[in-house]
Amino acid sequence: MRIVLVGPPGAGKGTQAAYLAKNLAIPHISTGDLFRANISQGTPLGQKAQEYMRAGQLVPDEVTIGMAKDRMQQPDAAHGFLLDGFPRNLAQAEALDGILKADDLKLDAVLDLEVPEDEVVKRIAGRRMCRKDSSHIFHAIYNPPKTEGVCDTCGGELYQREDDSEETVRKRLEVYHSETEPIIDYYKAQGLVVTISALGKVVEVTQRAMAALGRD
Ligand code: AP5
Repeated sequence: MRIVLVGPPGAGKGTQAAYLAKNLAIPHISTGDLFRANISQGTPLGQKAQEYMRAGQLVPDEVTIGMAKDRMQQPDAAHGFLLDGFPRNLAQAEALDGILKADDLKLDAVLDLEVPEDEVVKRIAGRRMCRKDSSHIFHAIYNPPKTEGVCDTCGGELYQREDDSEETVRKRLEVYHSETEPIIDYYKAQGLVVTISALGKVVEVTQRAMAALGRD
């Protein structure tokens, strides 16, 4: 399956993607994680992305689209993928259509996670990410690690993302409404959108998502 996950910052895309990718046996491709890996390795791409991410703005399309394309063309993605955080505006959505069309492929579904804004703000404020593996995501209240600051799964150090400050989150939400939400209508016109509520326990949301994708 080729799936796009869409939803506001903090909706739980990364959390759900880890489970859905495992259940569906497809790789989880997160442009945010790819940028963070480049930043921690100090690559030129990471240096460029960091200034935009710090400001809560989108990294320019000419950097993002090439990076996403390269990742989608890796052998593990030959039979499907779960895109998280890409596409994020109409130009990226059109570029993705072109990339898939060139190989005679198409998307199967766009899974839209719906969460009220006050819940998103609470989720982001308490988020703790693992430095060793970005798919290990915790929350200080909703999903606390057994030992504060330490990942239950791999023992990695837990940290708060630099772009999770209140001011940057406000900017990210603004960018989501103005640039990313229009892609939902773009995909609705193609009959690809399935919308689910992302409220409730993580496992309940995963079950809802699998059912919406016809894989329960
Ligand atoms: P990115 O990393 O993609 O961030 P985002 O889309 O803002 O989403 P988040 O990672 O903040 O949230 P999430 O929905 O994954 O939630 P999570 O599962 O962590 O992008 C970061 C930046 O990179 C962008 O601002 C931009 O600058 C750049 N970028 C990335 N892609 C780009 C692109 N295509 N083009 C241009 N720029 C790009 O969950 C959040 C918290 O909630 C966690 O603590 C979790 O434990 C908790 N939680 C999850 N589910 C539940 C639940 N059901 N109940 C209670 N708590 C829950």
